[in-house]
Parts: sequence; structure tokens; C-alpha cells
Amino acid sequence: MTLECLIPREVVARRVAELAGEIGRASADVADLSVVVLLNGALIFAADLVRQLNVPLTMDTLAVASYEQGHSTGLVAFRSPLKLNPEGRDMLVVDDILDSGLTLRRVMDSLRSAGAARVRSCVLLDKAAPRHPEGLARADFTAFQVPDKFIVGYGLDADERYRNLPDVMALIR
Ligand code: IMP
Ligand code: MG
Repeated sequence: MTLECLIPREVVARRVAELAGEIGRASADVADLSVVVLLNGALIFAADLVRQLNVPLTMDTLAVASYEQGHSTGLVAFRSPLKLNPEGRDMLVVDDILDSGLTLRRVMDSLRSAGAARVRSCVLLDKAAPRHPEGLARADFTAFQVPDKFIVGYGLDADERYRNLPDVMALIR
């Protein structure tokens, strides 16, 4: 098993700063942005992103899981409830990677059903992989496109390992 560097840390840092600017400009009219971070994968990305988001915001987390042992089950399990009521909120869901697109689709649908006024999505990575027919095609904000490989580092894991790697890497089995 080898690790191949896809996006070095300096490039990640520069792009995350730029993306925070894009989100800020697209949220100039928002009085209180409700940022929802999907755990565990988006933890490190979101920590860097929100510290550069120049918008009044609240932060909440949602623990979801769609992957079991490295393959998608097609099911998205909500392992924790939100602490803030989504009703009337302008929300930004932050995830690590868009793969089948099911996770973001399910989470965004459920926030809308709970009465959110607007729900947008932000991902670090958009994987060039086939989307599920019900999956979200693309996020509102994307930092990078990546090839259809298994990605680890900067928060992304393989069975909970490698989240601490500072670069975005491909795991070659
Ligand atoms: P989706 O529902 O298939 O779009 O998958 C999204 C979730 O699957 C992400 O939040 C990740 O946790 C996980 N995932 C998908 N692809 C990868 C990968 O290449 N490496 C690590 N996790 C991944
Ligand atoms: Mg995840």
C-alpha cells in the first residue's frame, strides 16, 4: 500500500483561503450563516475554512456515515442530531468529498424538510466518480477536482487512519 501526494499542503491552504473569499462574497446578504460540518471527514477542512470566513456565522456538526469498510452502502446514517433548529436558517453544509453524492443529497433534503430557508453545499474535493442517480451532481462551492481514486489526508480517512496527514493523498492498494 502506497501513498501518492495529489495536492500539497501549501496548495490546499491557498485554495481554502480563496474559497472562503468566494463563499463570503456569495453570502454578503446573509445576516447569520449556519455552517453545518459533516463529521468526521470535514473536520480539518472546516476548521481552516471557517476561520477565514468573514461572515457572521453559527457552527454546528452532524455525524453521518455512508461508507462501511471502504465501499459505499448507498445508505446514509445520521449518528447525531443537530443542536440548532434549521427552521428559517440560511445553511451551508460542509463535507470533505463528493463521491456518489448521496450523503450531501440526504443531508440537504433533511435540512430543507426541517424548514431551512436556504441550503448550500461546500466540499473540499469533487471526485471524478459516477454519481448515484439520486446523488447531488455538484456542490455550490468546490475547492478541488480529484481523480477517481481513494483519497486520504487533510481529514479524509481509510478506516479512520490518515486523517492527520497534512497533504491530500491517494491511497494505492
Ligand atoms: P458520497 O455519499 O458517496 O458522496 O460520499 C461522501 C462520503 O464518503 C464522504 O463524506 C467521505 O466520508 C466518504 N468518501 C467518499 N470517497 C472517499 C475517499 O476517496 N476517501 C475517503 N472517504 C471518502
Ligand atoms: Mg465523511
